[in-house]
Amino acid sequence: MNVIEIITKKRDGLEMSPAEIEFMVQAISAGSIPDYQISAWAMAVYLQGMSDAETTALALAMAYSGEVMDLSALEGIKVDKHSTGGVGDKTTMVVIPLAAAAGIPVAKMSGRGLGHTGGTIDKFESIPGFKVELSREEFIAQVDRVKAAVISQSGNLVPADKKLYAIRDVTATIESIPLIASSIMSKKIAAGAQGIVLDVKTGQGAFMKEQEQALRLAETMVRIGRGAGRQVVALITDMSQPLGYCVGNALEVKESIDLLQGRGPKDLEALCIELAAHMLILGGKSDHIETARGKLRDLLVSGAALAKFDDLVVAQGGHLQYDLPGYGLPQASIKEKVFAEESGYITKLDAMKVGHSAMLLGAGREKLEDQIDPAVGIELVKKRGDYVQAGEPLAIMHANRRELLPPVCQLLLESFQLSDTAANNPPLIYQTVT
Ligand code: URA
Repeated sequence: MNVIEIITKKRDGLEMSPAEIEFMVQAISAGSIPDYQISAWAMAVYLQGMSDAETTALALAMAYSGEVMDLSALEGIKVDKHSTGGVGDKTTMVVIPLAAAAGIPVAKMSGRGLGHTGGTIDKFESIPGFKVELSREEFIAQVDRVKAAVISQSGNLVPADKKLYAIRDVTATIESIPLIASSIMSKKIAAGAQGIVLDVKTGQGAFMKEQEQALRLAETMVRIGRGAGRQVVALITDMSQPLGYCVGNALEVKESIDLLQGRGPKDLEALCIELAAHMLILGGKSDHIETARGKLRDLLVSGAALAKFDDLVVAQGGHLQYDLPGYGLPQASIKEKVFAEESGYITKLDAMKVGHSAMLLGAGREKLEDQIDPAVGIELVKKRGDYVQAGEPLAIMHANRRELLPPVCQLLLESFQLSDTAANNPPLIYQTVT
C-alpha cells in the first residue's frame, strides 16, 4: 500500500478501505510517515468527510494502536463516562462515586484541562496528597476494592491519536466530526469499559456551538461504539453558561463535595443524576430510568455517595479536612467581588468568557506544558435568569496575583448580558441519543 495513493483517494472524495485506514494508523503510530503526509491526509479527511464505515474503522484502528486496558478481572459490567468538555463541568467527580455506590465498577481514565475547559485530573489533583498515577495493578485492585479509581491517561494508550491530535491542533483540522468522534471513541474503547455514557456539550462554552453539530457528533460516537461492540448512550447537554457556580480546580472539588452533602447547585445535581442513571441502566443495575434516578437520589440523601467519594480520595492518598470551612483544599489569597454596573435580568452568561477568565487567573492552561494554580478561579454569585441590582455582586474572583484582577473583572462583566425582561432558559438536557 502507498501513502500518496491513500491521500489522493481521500482528496478526491473516495472511500478508504478498512485496510487502507489501518495502514495509515499503523504508519502514524510507528512514525514511518512524515508529518507533512499525515497533515495532508488529515486535511483531505477534514474537507471530504468520512463515511460511517471509515469513521468506525479509524476509531478501532487507533484504539488498538497501542496498549488497551484489560478490565476482565473485575466483576460486573464496567461503565465509563465522558464529557466533550465544558466550563465548571465537575460531573465526573460526582458521577464516579454515585455510580460506584450503586455497585457499578468505575475504572476512570481522565485528561487534563486545556484552554477555557477544565480537566478532571487537575481537579482531583487539587486535593492535597491525591495521586493520579497508579500502576495498572494498583488501578485494577482499587476498582475491585473501592469500586472506583481515577487515573491520568497512560502513555501507551492510543499513540496514533496522540500523534494525529498534535498534528490536527496545528493544521486547522480539529473541527471535523469524524476526526473528533474517532479520537474520543478510540480512547474510550481502549479504556476497556463495556458501557459508555457520553455527555456531548453544546453552546457557547462547548466545542460544538450548535445543537445540530452536537447531535451529529453524538450520533457518530454512538455508531462507533456500537461497531466496537460497546453499549453507548449520549446526552446532548447545555454549555451556554457554566455548570454550577464554581470554575477552577479546588473550587470545583468543594462544590462537588457540597453536592454530595446535599447542598449542591440544582443544575449540576440534575445532570449528575441523569448521567449516573444511564450508567446504572447500561450496567444492569436498573431497568428503568426513573427507578435509577430514585436510587441515585437515595444514595445522595443517605450519604453513601459521599462516603464512596471519601473512600476514593483516601485510597489515592488524598486528605480532606471536613472540620475546616474550605475542607482543607488550597485557598487563593485574594477574593475580590465583581459588581453589576446596572440592574436587570441576566439573559446571558457566556461560559466561554467565564472559562477564559478562570484560565487567565491560572486555573487553566493555554498550552499543555503550562502550570496551573489549583486554588484560583471564579465563583459566580448570579446566573442566567437571576435579577441583579446595580452594585450587587455578580461573581467573586479567587486570585493569587493582584495584577490579574482588572482584565479578569472586565472579561467577567462582558460575560453577563442584562435586560429589563427575563429570557427563557434553554433546557439543561436537550436530547438523549441511544
Ligand atoms: N477531544 C478529543 O479527545 N479529540 C478531539 O479530536 C477533540 C476533542
